[in-house]
Amino acid sequence: MAAFRDMSFTPAEFASIAKIDRGMISQLESSGLLKTTKKKVGNVDRKIIALEDMQAYFHALRVLSEQGVITAANPEAIEGLKRQNIGMTTGLAPVNPIHKVQMFYNVKGGTGKSTMTAQYVMRAAMLGLKVLAIDLDGQGHLSVNLDVLDGHERPTIYDVLINDLPISEAIMNVAPCLDLIPANLGLCNIEIPLNNKTRREYRLSEALAKIAHNYDLIVADTNPAASILNGSMLVAAGLVNVVCATNPLSFHGMSLVMATIETMEQEFSRKLEVRIIPNMYDNREVISQEVLGELRSQFSECCTRTVMNRTADINEATKRRSTVWDVNPRGVAAHDITSLTEELIWLNERPLSVIPLSEGEDEEFTQPSSASTLENQTAPTETQVSATSETQLN
Ligand SMILES: Nc1ncnc2c1ncn2[C@@H]1O[C@H](COP(=O)(O)OP(=O)(O)O)[C@@H](O)[C@H]1O
Ligand SMILES: [Mg+2]
Repeated sequence: MAAFRDMSFTPAEFASIAKIDRGMISQLESSGLLKTTKKKVGNVDRKIIALEDMQAYFHALRVLSEQGVITAANPEAIEGLKRQNIGMTTGLAPVNPIHKVQMFYNVKGGTGKSTMTAQYVMRAAMLGLKVLAIDLDGQGHLSVNLDVLDGHERPTIYDVLINDLPISEAIMNVAPCLDLIPANLGLCNIEIPLNNKTRREYRLSEALAKIAHNYDLIVADTNPAASILNGSMLVAAGLVNVVCATNPLSFHGMSLVMATIETMEQEFSRKLEVRIIPNMYDNREVISQEVLGELRSQFSECCTRTVMNRTADINEATKRRSTVWDVNPRGVAAHDITSLTEELIWLNERPLSVIPLSEGEDEEFTQPSSASTLENQTAPTETQVSATSETQLN
């Protein structure tokens, strides 16, 4: 049991996350792209990859991809490398998310927003993306899920929007690559003072614009209401992730959620991308199957391919205030969160890049690993994505 910031991964887990064959790890080490450490388990020294070393690997890969040195979309470079006898393989190269600013939203409570937000931001941080999580619910569940228990002593978005605290002073670090603006009960009182402010719905976007350049991904968890604070986040966000539990009442509330989003779009003349995430799915329950079927037929454009199964691992992760990877890296929940994270970051396609290995190794250009079995179950098309890197807020 480890706090997220102290997590480490076995070579098999790393290979599955990086989408490479496990056999490549020693070559990645010798080419300087990956650092591993030894950890004593009983009498045996085990090779492990610390969270920060995994993030550094993805960062190095990303720099290589961004420099355009070698990408799957650059066949000439690949041919050139083959002639020079430089070993290569393909793996996941986490380029910028399609939408930098995202929110988890539903006017109904208990659908899994805070849980999904926490698991999503931790999984995105595992990819070395610089992530800011924002807790916009006075209950502070996102903060607790990220192991912040002293939120009541800290500044919140209330201080930023009402008392003009610089937003940078409300940000705290919770793990490598993961920052948080926490929440506490005081945030429940924000609606009246916010209502009295000028440009009330724009204050949050304007504050976020000041720090957006520090992050690759900004994700807010919202309160279960059609509040002004949530409205402000709808003005700031480019992607709205609606978490819908696969039960009849949650499905019934979907029309209100979609109507609220449409009203905001009209009022603020902006187009929001929406994804609906079916959550707490249980394939043994007919009602779960029926609601999933209805969601997919009524909102076919917006439904994620990933369906979040109801699992004990997710509840256990909530209890441990850590990621499902800490509970069971090979379980259904870890698989679902991986698949959801990749879908929400890159929408339909996952960016793969060619990884150069040390010179002189006569490796053939290999197709993506079949070793990452879990992930292959719902694998999206494995083509290079030319994700638009957003330099500004959406
Ligand atoms: N897929 C899931 N499987 C099992 N339990 C879940 C799942 N998603 C959420 N939960 C549990 O449901 C409860 C409510 O989730 P929460 O994220 O607080 O909802 P919301 O933020 O929408 O009010 C939490 O105890 C959480 O652990
Ligand atoms: Mg919540």
